[in-house]
Amino acid sequence: DLGGGRRRDGLNFTAVAPNQLDEVVVPEGYQQAVVMRWGDPVLPGAPAFDFDRQTAAAQAKQFGYNNDFCGLVPLPGWNRWLMVSNHEYTTEDAQFLGWDENNPTREQVEIGWAAHGMSVVLVERDHRSGKLEAKVDRRYNRRITATTPFKITGPAAGSKYLKTSADPTGTTVLGTLNNCAGGVTPWGTVLSGEENYNQYFANGASVTDKVTKDRLARYGMASGTTTTRKWERFDKRFDLAQEPNEANRFGWVVEVDPLDPTSTPVKHTALGRFKHEGANVIIARDGRVVAYMGDDERFDYMYKFVSDEKYKPGNSKHAREHNKKLLDKGTLYVAQFTGDTPAAEVDGTGKLPADGEFDGTGKWIPLASGTRSFVPGFTAEEVYVFTRLAADAVGATKMDRPEDVEPNPRNRRVYAALTNNTDRGKADKEGATEPNPRVRNKHGHVLELEERRGDNTALEFSWKLLLVCGDPAAPDTYFGGYDKSQVSPISCPDNLAFDSQGNLWISTDGNALGSNDGLFAVPVEGRYRGRVKQFLTVPRGAETCGPWIEDDFVLVSVQHPGEIDGASAANPLSHWPDGGASQPRPSVVMSWKKDKGRICG
Ligand code: FEO
Ligand code: CA
Ligand code: CA
Ligand code: CA
Repeated sequence: DLGGGRRRDGLNFTAVAPNQLDEVVVPEGYQQAVVMRWGDPVLPGAPAFDFDRQTAAAQAKQFGYNNDFCGLVPLPGWNRWLMVSNHEYTTEDAQFLGWDENNPTREQVEIGWAAHGMSVVLVERDHRSGKLEAKVDRRYNRRITATTPFKITGPAAGSKYLKTSADPTGTTVLGTLNNCAGGVTPWGTVLSGEENYNQYFANGASVTDKVTKDRLARYGMASGTTTTRKWERFDKRFDLAQEPNEANRFGWVVEVDPLDPTSTPVKHTALGRFKHEGANVIIARDGRVVAYMGDDERFDYMYKFVSDEKYKPGNSKHAREHNKKLLDKGTLYVAQFTGDTPAAEVDGTGKLPADGEFDGTGKWIPLASGTRSFVPGFTAEEVYVFTRLAADAVGATKMDRPEDVEPNPRNRRVYAALTNNTDRGKADKEGATEPNPRVRNKHGHVLELEERRGDNTALEFSWKLLLVCGDPAAPDTYFGGYDKSQVSPISCPDNLAFDSQGNLWISTDGNALGSNDGLFAVPVEGRYRGRVKQFLTVPRGAETCGPWIEDDFVLVSVQHPGEIDGASAANPLSHWPDGGASQPRPSVVMSWKKDKGRICG
């Protein structure tokens, strides 16, 4: 029974069935609407979207491409927020009918730069319809692109590894790239992770210095020649042969203050450099803040940062300026997990061990704090700029693509989406471990971590797998111990969020069960713990991300609709959301109850 109404599980909806429709499907009694789509006006003077006549000047004032994270920062008064979206990447052959990857035009490349980055859009909830309406607001709306100046802060600001010919001080970078997930901080700013930035940098193959080469290799840039988008032809900073340090200026967590529209966004070096999925902050009981982070690559790591200073409550300018510096000073740690089951019993099939759980203990290994390195052979600046190599050196645990790592404000436990890892157990790769118990892990899992005594600054923790995803009828899946005949199938957990009751919401990327991706909710406490229910599905070829859960509405990003093998602008395989013969457009979608009632609680 996955029924609706006001349920005892506190989730007031009936599960949506898996499907392959080219539309957004929401539960019975719910409705949905697009809030913003690629090309919609953000800044005053932006023209209406015209697929056939795109310009860089227009795109720089319009909503960018492939929106991923979506967060709401409340404005004073009721029912008004600043909606902050990441624009992770561009897909030129879907964006331009005349795309020739051997001969991109400068205009196409500059459209690409303008379509990356972030958008800040004022949204207001219409009290009659219940729908969020996007406003072209002169004061707050903002576009951040691949050419917007960012300030580098924290212990590696000014490092020799961050200096380039355009920026000999190593303190100012143009733009942010591949912004994937993120989080809203308790002080009302947005953190956003620079993820697969390696794809923008050409000619790593021409680098000969061994140390530099090894560093490039660990970040996926050692063998590159030309890039798909050819930006290196239009700005030499994307050519590693000419500007070997420019790539070191990406791969950070950035912080944007949407409430201060003239503020310069920052890149926080104290949070380390890797393929940052995002960062999510909780205030520890002693007032220090803790940011949890994942490095989304097969066999990469989970991290946390603990600030030196304490959070100052309140919205005074003084408190906000103090809080905006909290992520500049503190200690960076990487996670090491230990299973409590004999290794021989973790056979890679995903079958539960004799003790009934994939579980164990772990510790946070310090990497660096300010100018102090804890890693032999690494200076502190090397730890911050080449964090993956430092974490390799201390024996961190290789995970199955750690995506969102997010603390639950209701129980202080931390949840990690481990999307998948089909390389686990391959001939030259690590095999199953208790925290990553399946070889050829197609469907991923969700890990729950409890810090010692519930103290988020603690150096030790216990952990267990909450979900081992896939077909509930298959023997290699686990749904928190709940009756598997009563759950929705789920595959490839990617982004996480919590509702006000502490239920975990999960969006998926790459559903390996053959149906469309979607959004799911699952209680983590009480008798319904582990009962996964699907809340919505997204159109063909799309990934579900962003999710943002209010008591009476949900936002998701519908990223890359129609991204299916063989699709292009000449042959679109989705026509969502505009229908007819239109091109697909990545969008933010809202869903709410027709009676405007509560979704949870
Ligand atoms: Fe951009 Fe890890 O997904
Ligand atoms: Ca165990
Ligand atoms: Ca993601
Ligand atoms: Ca993804």
